[in-house]
Amino acid sequence: MTILNVICGTIIHSTKEDNLVILQDAAIGFQDKKIVFLCKKADLTSLTKEFSFCIKNVEYLSKRQFLIPGFVDTHAHASQYSYQGTGMDRGLMDWLNTYTFPVESKFQDKQFATDVYQKAVSRFLKNGTTTASYYGTIHTDCTLVLCRIIDKLGQRALVGKVNMNQRSPDYYVETTDQSISETNRFVEEVLNLEVNLVTPCITPRFALSCSLDLQEELGKIAQHYNLPIQTHLSECLTECSEVKSCYPDRKHYIDVYHKAGLLSNRTVLAHSIYLSDNELQIIKDKNCGIAHCPNSNLSLRSGLFDARKVLELDIKLGLGSDIAGGYSCSILDAIRSSVEVSHTIAILNEGQNKEYKPINFRDSFKMATLGGAQVLGLDDKIGNFEVGKEFDALLVDVELNDSNFDVFESDTFEDIFQKFIYLGDDRNIKRVYISGSQVKM
Ligand code: GUN
Ligand code: FE
Repeated sequence: MTILNVICGTIIHSTKEDNLVILQDAAIGFQDKKIVFLCKKADLTSLTKEFSFCIKNVEYLSKRQFLIPGFVDTHAHASQYSYQGTGMDRGLMDWLNTYTFPVESKFQDKQFATDVYQKAVSRFLKNGTTTASYYGTIHTDCTLVLCRIIDKLGQRALVGKVNMNQRSPDYYVETTDQSISETNRFVEEVLNLEVNLVTPCITPRFALSCSLDLQEELGKIAQHYNLPIQTHLSECLTECSEVKSCYPDRKHYIDVYHKAGLLSNRTVLAHSIYLSDNELQIIKDKNCGIAHCPNSNLSLRSGLFDARKVLELDIKLGLGSDIAGGYSCSILDAIRSSVEVSHTIAILNEGQNKEYKPINFRDSFKMATLGGAQVLGLDDKIGNFEVGKEFDALLVDVELNDSNFDVFESDTFEDIFQKFIYLGDDRNIKRVYISGSQVKM
C-alpha cells in the first residue's frame, strides 16, 4: 500500500509568475518522492476521497511554522570549507594563490578530504541547502569521496572534479592528458555509483587555469554524457585583464568559453560581474544560468553584480555561497547580501537621474529556490511545490526559545516570513526534506 504524507499549515514558495506566494490554511501531500497535491486544507477531505489515497500521516503545523522549498546553492567549493570565514584580506587572484591552492592541494589525502567534506555537507544541510553545485579539487578519488558523503547524508548535488592544466602552482596542476582521462574516469565512476541524487558536473576552474584544447575536450565530454558544466566568469577586473592578455584573439571573456563549446543550457557561470551587453546576449541565447555570489563578491572586493539588469533580460539567475570566497554557507545570508548589493547599486545611481529599481527579498527568495533550480537545470524536479515535483522542503519555526528574533501579534504572515529571511538562521530550520525523505541532522 502506498503511503501518503500530508502537512497542513502555511506554505510559501515562488512560482514562475509570482516571486512570493503565501498559502495559508493549505495542505500538501507527498508520496514517496513526489508532491501529489497542493490545496486548501478545507478541500483535503474531498480530494483524498477522490484519489482514494491512503493517508499515513497528517501533520498540522503551528501558527508560527511554515514550509518553504529547500534552498539551492548554485556555486560552492566544498573543498574550501576548512578556511571558511578566514583570509578575507586579499583580492581574488592573490587570495587564490595565498589561501586556496595550498589548501586544495591537500585533498589528495583521503582522511583530510573525508573530514572536511563530511563537515561541509553537514553544515550546508543544517542551513537548509537541499541542492548544491559543488566544486571538489583536481583529485578524482577524493572528489568521489565527496560524492559518497553527499549520497550518505542525502543531499541533492552536482559535483565537479576541478580541471587545471595551466597557470597554476606546480604543486597543484595536471597535464592536459591527465585532466581529460581523470575527468572521464570521474564521470564514469559517478554514473556507476548508486547515487540517485548526485550528478557529475564538468568543471573547468576558469579560463586562466585551462588551456583552450583542454576546454574543448571538456566541452566534448559534457556533450557526450549530456552533463552540466560549471565555471567562473568575469569575477574581478584583474582576472578580466589577464584573460584578455592570455586570449588576445578573443573579443570578450565569454568568447573563450563560447568557442570552446562550453556554453549550453546546462552551463552555470559563477559571478559574471563585468559583462558587456553583447556577452549577456550570448548567455541568453545559449540559455546558460548565472550563479550570483554576493557575499564572495563583497568579501574579495570583486565587484557589484547587477541582479536587476540580468533579471530584466530574463537570464536564469540563482544564488551561490561561493564558500570560501564568501564566508557564509547559508543561502539566507546570500539572500540578504544580494539585496544589499542591489541597494548599493541604487545608492550609487542616485543623483545620476537614473531610475533604478533594486531587487527585494521576494526577488531574492525566488533566486534562492526556483531560480537556482532553473540555473542547475533541475526546475522540472525541484524549486517550488508544484504537483509532480519532488518534495524538497524546509520546515521553518519562528517561535523557539533560542530564536534570534521575536514575532509579535501585529506581524502579518509576510512580516513573519521577512523576519525569518532577514534574522533567521539554522536554529529556525527544524526539518529538512529531500526527495520526500527527512534528512537526519
Ligand atoms: N576563480 C577561479 N577559482 C576560483 C575560486 O576558487 N573561487 C572564486 N571565488 N573564484 C575563482
Ligand atoms: Fe567560486
